[in-house]
Amino acid sequence: MYDKLKTYRSIRKYKETPVEKEKLEEIIRAALIAPSSRNIKPWEFIVVKDKKVLGAISKSKVHGASFAKDVPVAFVVIADPQKCDVWIEDCSIAAYAIQLAARSLGLGSCWIQTRLREKDDAVSSQEYLKDLLGIPEKYVVECVVTIGYADEAKAEYSEKDMDFKKVHYDFY
Ligand SMILES: Cc1cc2nc3c(=O)[nH]c(=O)nc-3n(C[C@H](O)[C@H](O)[C@H](O)COP(=O)(O)O)c2cc1C
Repeated sequence: MYDKLKTYRSIRKYKETPVEKEKLEEIIRAALIAPSSRNIKPWEFIVVKDKKVLGAISKSKVHGASFAKDVPVAFVVIADPQKCDVWIEDCSIAAYAIQLAARSLGLGSCWIQTRLREKDDAVSSQEYLKDLLGIPEKYVVECVVTIGYADEAKAEYSEKDMDFKKVHYDFY
């Protein structure tokens, strides 16, 4: 597993090649069985392929989302916070399940943070995406996960990237 994980880098440049329906379905299955607290699964997902909508998603933040206009697919991860107090953890794990499933299928992926981010001085990324995607009021948007065939190569991680001082055994 580690041999694979060290090659899983964030990909922000994608080929125009569409993601096959079967691969998307497999990613969706992976998301829907992500572990969640008390198995409540407070999340839902919006799978976006529409170019116009992707273009609008790319404008959802001041920094860090612009590449979304050229991605083949984006998963918007939302949750109903009333369903579970640890919905942030649940959403994060589901988003990472999407990333891991995509990467295991030979696809690239990148997380775009939405929660606590701003579109501009007046509007939060949250409000903007909810309005854009017709998300009902009670939901919160955690993040957007982009998926597609990579059109950039990135070095895999090695031990020089690992700060082993961060790991403590038995006591801090
Ligand atoms: C919680 C979280 C939020 C992130 N937000 C963004 C983002 O908004 N835009 C972006 O381009 N990358 C984002 N990333 C990707 C990180 O920048 C990336 O994982 C980090 O720089 C390490 O690079 P690597 O994934 O290639 O190893 C985010 C990653 C995480 C886990």
